[in-house]
Amino acid sequence: MTILITGGAGFIGHTLTRHLLALGHKVLLVDNFNNSYDPDVKWQHIQALEHLANWSLCQGDIRDKRFLQQIFRIHSIDGVIHLAGLAGVRASLQNPATYFDHNVNGTTVLLEAMRAANVKRLVFASSSSVYGVRSGGTFQETDSAEDSVSPYALSKRAAERLCQQYHHLYGLQVFCLRLFTVYGPQQRPDMAISRFIHQLHTGQPITLFGDGQSRRDYTYVDDIVAGISQAIERVNGYEIINLGSANPVILLELIALLEQLTKRRVPIEWLNTQPGDVPYTHAAIDKARQLLNYRPATDLKEGLRRMVSSYQQTYANTQTFE
Ligand SMILES: NC(=O)c1ccc[n+]([C@@H]2O[C@H](COP(=O)([O-])OP(=O)(O)OC[C@H]3O[C@@H](n4cnc5c(N)ncnc54)[C@H](O)[C@@H]3O)[C@@H](O)[C@H]2O)c1
Repeated sequence: MTILITGGAGFIGHTLTRHLLALGHKVLLVDNFNNSYDPDVKWQHIQALEHLANWSLCQGDIRDKRFLQQIFRIHSIDGVIHLAGLAGVRASLQNPATYFDHNVNGTTVLLEAMRAANVKRLVFASSSSVYGVRSGGTFQETDSAEDSVSPYALSKRAAERLCQQYHHLYGLQVFCLRLFTVYGPQQRPDMAISRFIHQLHTGQPITLFGDGQSRRDYTYVDDIVAGISQAIERVNGYEIINLGSANPVILLELIALLEQLTKRRVPIEWLNTQPGDVPYTHAAIDKARQLLNYRPATDLKEGLRRMVSSYQQTYANTQTFE
């Protein structure tokens, strides 16, 4: 297949690109290299693909209708994996309109371009944050997603509904994947685990929001990209599917693992819980198992070990995270 990945220069996008190329697909990456975090990091992701064949990059913005129309005119695209958007809950409280512009308007422009080009396969990266504040139980795809607590989560839910409408109106085949906290080498520098590893290495205090008892379903990036690549091959109808590890871990336990792996300890700077953050996530993954043959295989300690080792090789002596 020839697959277009929007947001292809990002954390998940460039990891997914390697995976799809290894499976024999052709990949076209679209990214606008915005400054949601240091664009040099995104260019480094692209540089790291340079020795591989069968991929190309189109730099541009998915909100630009003519740009997308041209891409679909020039390239014969079989399916789209839509990762482009502004990620992260806290920043969405500062810039809600910008989040809606990229995540909702951007998705609408993409859907229209796909409709016009008669491209029928779409996988969309949604988020576990749509489930809102919960204190226990597993999160089923049939549970309510109408009580989310951040503009980011709401923008993802709105994009899911847009995809559903395009399925209903125009027969677009769409799988919306609700991703649960993805981690691994080259994780976005603004995300908690990246920050903790950097803080441990540079001897700065770990900045921790809340009381450390939050529990998250941390999911290794290779497991996520395996699920995404199955989704683009199997997409059929309109489905919402969780991709998580189904194994929530307490934040302080995660920090203890990182201390063990880095052989370092630093003081913790305790900060107030941030509005918009959710205290607990736990994916039900039966549907993913059934529809995508999804089998998350990387245990947290091993995933963190790989992440720490990649950090040590790549960033330890740079200022990229400053
Ligand atoms: N990382 C996670 O834990 C996680 C969890 C749930 C959902 N997601 C979603 O998965 C997707 C990828 O996440 P990530 O962690 O790789 O984020 P990322 O920020 O590293 O990647 C997103 C990429 O999209 C690009 N982009 C943003 N707006 C664009 C636009 N208008 N036009 C073109 N390119 C644009 C950015 O430059 C960036 O390279 C995001 O949509 C995110 O919301 C991620």
